[in-house]
Amino acid sequence: MRRLALVVVLASVAAACSGPTSVSTTATVISTTTTEPPTTAPPPPSTRPPGPNETLTSIGDPYYPGLGNGGYDVARYDIELTLLDGGEIAGFTTVTAVTVAELDRLSLDFGSTEPVGDGLVVDAVRVDGAPARWDHDGEELIVTPPAALAAGATFVVEVEYSGVPFAATSRALPIGVGWYEGASGVRYVIGEPDGAHLWFPANDHPSDKATFSISVTVPAGTFAAANGSLVDQIDDIGTTTFVWEEDDPMATYLATVVVSDRYTLVRDEAASAETGIEVRNVLASDLADDPPAPLGRTAEMVGVLSGLFGPYPFDEYGVAFVDGFGSALENQTLSLFDTELADAPILDLVLVHELAHQWFGNSLTPRRWEDIWLNEGFATFAELLWIEAEGGEEAYRDEIRERTRQVRAFGLGPPGSPAPSDLFAGGVYQRGALTLVALRDEVGDATFFDILRAYTDRYAYGNVTTADFVTVAEEVANRDLSALFDAWLYDDQLPD
Ligand code: TRP
Ligand code: ZN
Repeated sequence: MRRLALVVVLASVAAACSGPTSVSTTATVISTTTTEPPTTAPPPPSTRPPGPNETLTSIGDPYYPGLGNGGYDVARYDIELTLLDGGEIAGFTTVTAVTVAELDRLSLDFGSTEPVGDGLVVDAVRVDGAPARWDHDGEELIVTPPAALAAGATFVVEVEYSGVPFAATSRALPIGVGWYEGASGVRYVIGEPDGAHLWFPANDHPSDKATFSISVTVPAGTFAAANGSLVDQIDDIGTTTFVWEEDDPMATYLATVVVSDRYTLVRDEAASAETGIEVRNVLASDLADDPPAPLGRTAEMVGVLSGLFGPYPFDEYGVAFVDGFGSALENQTLSLFDTELADAPILDLVLVHELAHQWFGNSLTPRRWEDIWLNEGFATFAELLWIEAEGGEEAYRDEIRERTRQVRAFGLGPPGSPAPSDLFAGGVYQRGALTLVALRDEVGDATFFDILRAYTDRYAYGNVTTADFVTVAEEVANRDLSALFDAWLYDDQLPD
């Protein structure tokens, strides 16, 4: 019941939205080894100023005050996981960060206020190599370094932990986020919006992006994938360690792992050659042998979207099909799909939707959760663009009419400021997309796509707010568009 809830969110509108035929959318025990802090230099520190509402345990997003923490900015996460017998993991996460103010204590988000069993237990914490005191309570791991950290200093926190990871109910969705295990035995992470700190200690807020290395040690014969590129595979006695590197900034909620003894990495050489990025999918053998047809169109989809949005932002792309979460999720460079979607008639649209998130959401990440329509409205709009690329303007207009009818029929609310418990509501998706349709109609195609490309270019790899998008639109169109945005984003009434 619960696992289908999100499909309902994505597809409720959808099912009805696109007419009768298509729906739119939408072990072996190894002790934790202590390694040195990363030898590669971290990327240049970001220069986030301390936010006005920051506290020790909040980065100051009024939507979810418990998420994120004040006083520092993470540059890099090095996550090392070892999968043990019985679902247990041993984790070792190194957080390299820069203080934005002098700090005598700092907090990381880690764990849950409603743990299943003992949850993940912290075994040791070090700051700059020296043992540090810590207090782990609910979702916060408060660390006291041996000496205060100066403002602007780079520092390294190492956290060793172990236990059985689990999924906990999200603040924003009637669904669990965190660590999943499918009926097939595949284990994977669903992070959006508040699941990342259920498997690694993090500044778990999208306004603090960082590069990642994720290394997963599994029994020999098991495969482990994560974001980015597989940079090393180390075979040891009875184990293999897969080392993945995401060297472009990534929000914590987009970090993922997929682990299974039935999966392999399937490289798509033709699509890689055509797109210039590394296209690879993570598939169980049955799907690897007989992949769904739309998966063969990745290069085409990247071509259409990059023609409209600007260059694909990352070095890799692909999807993993896993069972048990009932939906699809745009993890950076490696979107996750429920296997239920493999033979769904809407698979092509969901593939386009998650691919579009690599620009809108992953490269350009909302600075605050309230602006989630900058992800979902744009990704849903991309579905319309794909329909147009395939079927021409008439198909595009028909789809808009159908979705408008559904927005009315379901009384979907405005996308600009959804309730915190309703971040992924149908209105955020469908009215968000219609907002872009209205903008396109208002300013014309040439200006509209100039706006999109100016926006993706200016804010690539960074954070955005609704005001940033409106500013770019008004600059490029050279006119005031506030009435249009106000009506489409915030009015209860659906504009004409
Ligand atoms: N971002 C997802 C989408 O593409 C929706 C989503 C958010 C989601 N959190 C999730 C899906 C958790 C599954 C599980 O629309
Ligand atoms: Zn989406």
